[in-house]
Formats: sequence, structure tokens, C-alpha cells
Amino acid sequence: RTVYVNGQYLPETEATVSIFDRGFLMADGVYEVTSVLDGKLIDFDGHAVRLERSLNELDMRAACTKEELLEIHRELVRVNEITEGLIYLQITRGSDGDRDFIFPDPETTKPTIVMFTQNKPGLADSPAAKKGAKIISIEDIRWGRRDIKTVQLLYPSMGKMMAKAAGADDAWLIEDGHVTEGTSNNAYFVKNGKIVTRPLSTDILHGITRKAVLRMAEEAQMEVEERLFTIDEAKEADEAFTTSASAFVMPVVEIDGVVLGDGTPGPIATRLREIYLDESL
Ligand code: PDD
Repeated sequence: RTVYVNGQYLPETEATVSIFDRGFLMADGVYEVTSVLDGKLIDFDGHAVRLERSLNELDMRAACTKEELLEIHRELVRVNEITEGLIYLQITRGSDGDRDFIFPDPETTKPTIVMFTQNKPGLADSPAAKKGAKIISIEDIRWGRRDIKTVQLLYPSMGKMMAKAAGADDAWLIEDGHVTEGTSNNAYFVKNGKIVTRPLSTDILHGITRKAVLRMAEEAQMEVEERLFTIDEAKEADEAFTTSASAFVMPVVEIDGVVLGDGTPGPIATRLREIYLDESL
């Protein structure tokens, strides 16, 4: 695989970053995951805009322009022959060669930018989406700025491990009695034809897929309500689903052992997945 690091395309075994990089020492960095279907980038603009926002919120400088980023994305897709998969992009604050809590001077310290592709055949025609996901609920103990897409992913990772240990596929996070989002996706349930999801705030990531799917739902005359909801409401729902760039619309068929509907992907989640893939391809 050819990867990109700080202006260079290199074989993955030759790409290196400093051990003092603040991304490595302090999780001081942001990332984006963009999907590739049929060799095309899905919603690159949305990801580029969110990246810029994440960088601004952390007083970080962009390592390159949006046009350059697009060019690198396209080049990596081309050289690695990705027809279906993901592109991971990470920008960290870099380092001035030592460990310090104080940010290094941005005039003299360049951010580190890393990008690589992940080949994922079957992303669109996914067996997991046909089956639907089983989720568990766990407490949300992440920091309070989840709208910034930082690389602090230890708790989401632990959440997925807890789900795995419980024989489930993923976890939804609960704060003050309400569902915030999934470990790496936004969360929704459907009751009597109405789609319910948490409104945007600093409590959740502003999903690029969420934005597209809510627009598509409205265009398809589906009813959408953005409000806080509890895990018990979701357990009593007709169906549920999650959205993310890496899994598009993923039906949820079980929550904390409670089977939703007949235990197969619901009609609204299934339809939204189809619409999303149709529009993307
Ligand atoms: N995760 N919420 C969280 C906490 C996320 O990490 C993600 C994305 C989303 C969905 O956002 P989007 O639709 O823009 O992908 C919501 C990515 C895919 C990841 O960490 O791999």
C-alpha cells in the first residue's frame, strides 16, 4: 500500500513520524474517514468542511488546502486501486522535539498529516447490514467536545470491546439518561413511521452521513424529529439504525438483548440505506 505522509507518497513500511508528535503523546489531532464507492469519493466536501472546523476549534493550522487534500485523496485511490473502501486522514499538531503540555509555536512547528487507504470490498453489499446490528448501551464517559473529531478514541474502542464481550456488534452511549450516539456512528430509532435522532450540539459528532440521510429522509417524505431520547424509547421502537461514513446506514435489530420488531432490518432503515447508496453511486 502506498500512503501519504507530510508531502510524500511512500510505501507504508517507509512512512514515519516523530515519537514526539503530539498526536502520539497526547492524542492532539483530528481525523476524517471518507468512503470510496465505485472508485469515487463520497461527500468529500462535507468531510473537508468538518476537518477545517475541527482544526479551528483546536487552534491548529491546516497542513494543506482543500484542493490539495482532494488531489491526495484521488491519487491514493488511484495508486492503490481502491474501488470500494475508506480513506483515513489524520492531522496532528506535530512537535518541536520534546514533550510539553503547552502547544508548540505554530510559526515554527508544522502539523503532521498522514493519509492511507483501506480496501473494503463488500462495503455497499454488506452482509452485516443485511443481518442488522446488535447493540448494547453503556455510559458515555467521553470528554465534552464530541463535535470535534479528535483521535481520542480509547473509550469508543473500549465500548466496542464491551459490545464484543457481550456478544453484540456495537455500543450506544448514554449520558444523563439520554442516548448521545454510537461509538463511531450517529443513532436513530423509528416509531410509528417517525425517525427520531438527537439534535446537533457539542455532545455528538456532526455526522456527514447524518446530514445526507436526514435530507434524503425528508425528500422521501419521511417524518424526522430531532430531540433527546432514552434507550428505553429505542428498545420500544419499531426499528433503529446508525449512520457513519464507514457503514452508511446500518440497521439495528437488537438493543440490550431486546429484539426490535421481527429481529430483521426495518423497512425505513433498509430504504434509507438503498437511497443513500443509489445517490452515492
Ligand atoms: N466515525 N459519531 C462518532 C462518534 C463517530 O466517530 C462517527 C464517525 C460518526 C458518524 O460520522 P460520519 O457520518 O461523518 O462518518 C458519529 C468514523 C467513521 C470512524 O471513526 O471510523
